[in-house]
Amino acid sequence: MSCGIEHVQEAQVRAEELRSQVNYHDYLYYVKNAPEVSDAEYDELMRRLRAIEEHYPELITADSPTQRVGERASEAFGVVEHREPMLSLANAFKFGDLQAWQQRAARLAGTDRFRYVCEPKIDGLAMALMYENGRYVQGATRGDGLRGENITENLRTIRSIPMQLRGSGFPERFEVRGEVYMPKAAFEALNLEQSERGEPLFANPRNAAAGSVRQRDPAITAARKLDVWVYQVGWADGEVPQTHWETLQWLSALGFRVNPEIARFDDLEDVQRFYRQWEERRHSLDYEIDGMVVKIDDKSHWDELGYVGREPRWAIAYKFPPVQATTTLKKIAINVGRTGSLNPFAVLEPVQVGGVIVKQATLHNEEDIRRKDIREGDTVIVQRAGDVIPQVVGPVVSRRRGKERRYRLPKRCPVCGSEVVRPEGEAMAYCSNISCPAQMFRWIGHFAGVMEIEGLGEQWVANLLEKGLIKDPGDIYRLTKDQLVALERMGEKSAGKLLANVEASKGRNLGTLLFALGIRHVGGEVANLLANHFGTLDALATAEQEEIGQVEGIGPKIAESVHAYFRDAGKAAIIEKLRAAGVNMEQRRAKRVEGPLTGQTFVFTGTLASMPRSKAEAVVRGLGADAADSVTRKVTYVVAGADPGSKLAKAEGYGIAVLDEDGFLAMVREHGVDV
Ligand code: IVH
Repeated sequence: MSCGIEHVQEAQVRAEELRSQVNYHDYLYYVKNAPEVSDAEYDELMRRLRAIEEHYPELITADSPTQRVGERASEAFGVVEHREPMLSLANAFKFGDLQAWQQRAARLAGTDRFRYVCEPKIDGLAMALMYENGRYVQGATRGDGLRGENITENLRTIRSIPMQLRGSGFPERFEVRGEVYMPKAAFEALNLEQSERGEPLFANPRNAAAGSVRQRDPAITAARKLDVWVYQVGWADGEVPQTHWETLQWLSALGFRVNPEIARFDDLEDVQRFYRQWEERRHSLDYEIDGMVVKIDDKSHWDELGYVGREPRWAIAYKFPPVQATTTLKKIAINVGRTGSLNPFAVLEPVQVGGVIVKQATLHNEEDIRRKDIREGDTVIVQRAGDVIPQVVGPVVSRRRGKERRYRLPKRCPVCGSEVVRPEGEAMAYCSNISCPAQMFRWIGHFAGVMEIEGLGEQWVANLLEKGLIKDPGDIYRLTKDQLVALERMGEKSAGKLLANVEASKGRNLGTLLFALGIRHVGGEVANLLANHFGTLDALATAEQEEIGQVEGIGPKIAESVHAYFRDAGKAAIIEKLRAAGVNMEQRRAKRVEGPLTGQTFVFTGTLASMPRSKAEAVVRGLGADAADSVTRKVTYVVAGADPGSKLAKAEGYGIAVLDEDGFLAMVREHGVDV
């Protein structure tokens, strides 16, 4: 990349200008939620900055926005001694607890005329951010409160953490504290991905956030869509505001992301009302909160009130009642997944959990059931964390009457009766029959979805299977118009459309096909890695296990599963059907052109009114971007036409920018393309 600047001094000035522009737009976008420029303009600033830094690497600074992507691997985490201990909070569960807390504070402070600041209690993890002369220099976890882990590089990837503070008048050195969390949508998208890869699921957004900040590779943290709410000054070499309320305003003015749902009251009754409102409304937030934190506003009381153990007397966590309920687990049933996995779930006596009636809950796998000693007939605790799928926390052992039955996964598939196998070292068990109807049904549905065969939804898959018109994904390509029109509710026109969509799906890239093939542990991202590495299906199918395992990002479990897949005679026969039908089995790598959109990846979904998808893909490729078939975290934009498919939901889950057709056209026109 050329940056067009010949003198290092000029480059330095320009780089600084670009950094402050990018920082400003990051602030508007990530903190204020009010961007002023289009994503394309923002990307252009970043591109210019990168070009300069590539040309003059000596000018790269640690706090440059280009360094947020976390490309550098972090050393093993070092230890950070907290200059001031990071405390925890005492809990209140009812109004009486809150009153008792207030009275104790009043006794010690010699006054009961307090103001209270209420803030949502974020269910994430505490961290400390240190600034020197307005620059971010260190980030650490809470650890045991006295010593935490140095996760400076990982936190740098969170775009709402300012690298450079705004304005002036801040202490030379100081530390702010806040909560890192994973938004619910990102959590669900992450778990979807984990399950596609056959990796264990995260129990809740908090665990997912904790796992994400402690990654050795900051690039993984960067991909995890974490965010932060800042709520406190840890310590400061210099002046800070005297009240907590003003401190929050001050932090906000410095560019920190301060939760807007804060309030200040003179009266404890008002605090109670506020708490009640949030107990109702908590599910409307896109992050988990488990209560309200109530803090005494005037910080001059903080020292005089002091601590009990690790808990300050000037603040308290007023917790919401957990959204748990107990009910009877009637039986454990099995759902056969598309890779043949046997997914046990609990069939429950319907019960209200946090305003929603729950009839089923996930049970992960047999080992999990055994570890928690969950038995059929048990009274169980069911938990719903936010909007995520309900879980069985465990049995209420004291309620047992002796009639409960220990659970054993069936030895035969509940749908087709074939033998169930559990590969060594894996938690999941699988039906061994690749033609198992349940497995086939899910696999064909998955195949049609991934290959974007519009019009072939679950209903039709079930119908076609039942009529014996298809038995596996390969048969989709053998369907004839006569067969289709003979079906009830299938007109001439829809049959024609469906066949056209089937035909179009033959041209998908190899990465998409590999994902569609339903190989255990191979989700969209892994499929693309494999396709890019091997280039053709045959090269992958004939590769040895070691070779597959050597591909970056592919672990031994995936390698083993991919290798085994292509040695299965049944799968091979299906692949031959696909080949005979003319399904593309090569990864097309468009010749790269350098352009204003170089480095970006577009995915199109739905129908564009102005041009066919192939044309739109050609347009973005012409501008230097990549066009991909499936949504992964590397995607920059998803362009959604009419009737977009699941890609749109996935994009939203990942927090990927979505453009509508007009937005897309405006963007390409901005780059001089006449469409
Ligand atoms: S104040 C001594 N404010 O809750 C002050 N903490 O249970 C302690 N937390 O370790 C921090 N939201 O991780 C404070 N608005 C908020 C909070 C909050 C979540 C966490 C924090 C703390 C834990 C204590």
